[in-house]
Parts: sequence; structure tokens; C-alpha cells
Amino acid sequence: MNKKIEVTASLEVIAKNDWTVEEATLILKAKEILELAHAPYSKFLVGASLLLENGEIFSANNQENVSFPVGVCAERAVLSYVMGNFPNTKPIKIAIAAKRMGEKGYAYVTPCGMCRQMINEYEIKFGSSIEILMLNGQEEILKAKGIEHLLPFRFHNLNG
Ligand code: THU
Repeated sequence: MNKKIEVTASLEVIAKNDWTVEEATLILKAKEILELAHAPYSKFLVGASLLLENGEIFSANNQENVSFPVGVCAERAVLSYVMGNFPNTKPIKIAIAAKRMGEKGYAYVTPCGMCRQMINEYEIKFGSSIEILMLNGQEEILKAKGIEHLLPFRFHNLNG
């Protein structure tokens, strides 16, 4: 039998009553900013908030385009801005929330593959994990302790 490489990926499910103040703040910021998203094509509004090691929080949303591939996800929007402006400040946590236009409740969202790869980049740059908090339709947080739980077997080393 051939050798097998196995990894364990897990998400912690956190009920609303058990959220920390920090988690509640990050989710609130993601919920607020998703309302300002430019998503006329998918009508799927996404907000992302990023906590830095100095306690500052920045947020952004998805920006779609009539030429669909030009659109940018909320996670990459906030990471590009923050890492461009504060290249030496470590990102600690990113929270994501989503809603379908016209609906009241929240939609379950997890970062797309490109966003996962971008989160991975800043884990490499700073040498530490970035926690990913994802809101689901029951308003629980699904918490990934680092990108390895969302992107196992990821590309993170040019030298093999
Ligand atoms: N989207 C995000 O902004 N973040 C995610 O985590 C999932 C997807 C956006 C991309 C597109 O504008 C819309 O949601 C539908 O895919």
C-alpha cells in the first residue's frame, strides 16, 4: 500500500452567547460594512473586518464589476488596503459576514480559494497564524485557528 499523508482540519462552532467582546466587535464591523458592498451582479453582500496586533480594526466589502472577473472579494479588499498601508503590523484575525440582497438574515460564508491563498501569504510574511471567523445562517461563528484548516496542502514555499 502506498504511503498516505493525512491532515486534520477543524472549525470550532461558537454560539452567539459564547462570543468574546473582540469576536462580537469584529462580526459587527463585518455586518456593518457588507451593507455598503457593490454587488449588483451576484447580489451577495460580503463584509470582512481585520484585527491588527495593535488593536486596530479595518473593514471592507466586495466590489463587483460588469466584467465579472475584475470583481474583488471583501477579504482581499481589506487585506490589500491594510497590508499596503501598514506593512509591518501583524494581522491577527479576520471576520467575514454575508447577506443576500433584500434578505434580513445572514448567509453562511467562507473565503474563496483566492482569498485563502492571500490570507496564507500574510501568515507566511509574519510567521504566525491568522484566525478566520465566519458567520453562518444561525449566527454562530465558525472559527478556523489558521489557514491550514481552510487550505490544507497549500502552496507556501517556493523551495519545495
Ligand atoms: N465573495 C466575497 O467577497 N467573499 C467571500 O468569502 C465569498 C465571495 C464575493 C465575491 C462576489 O462578489 C460575491 O461574493 C459572490 O461570489
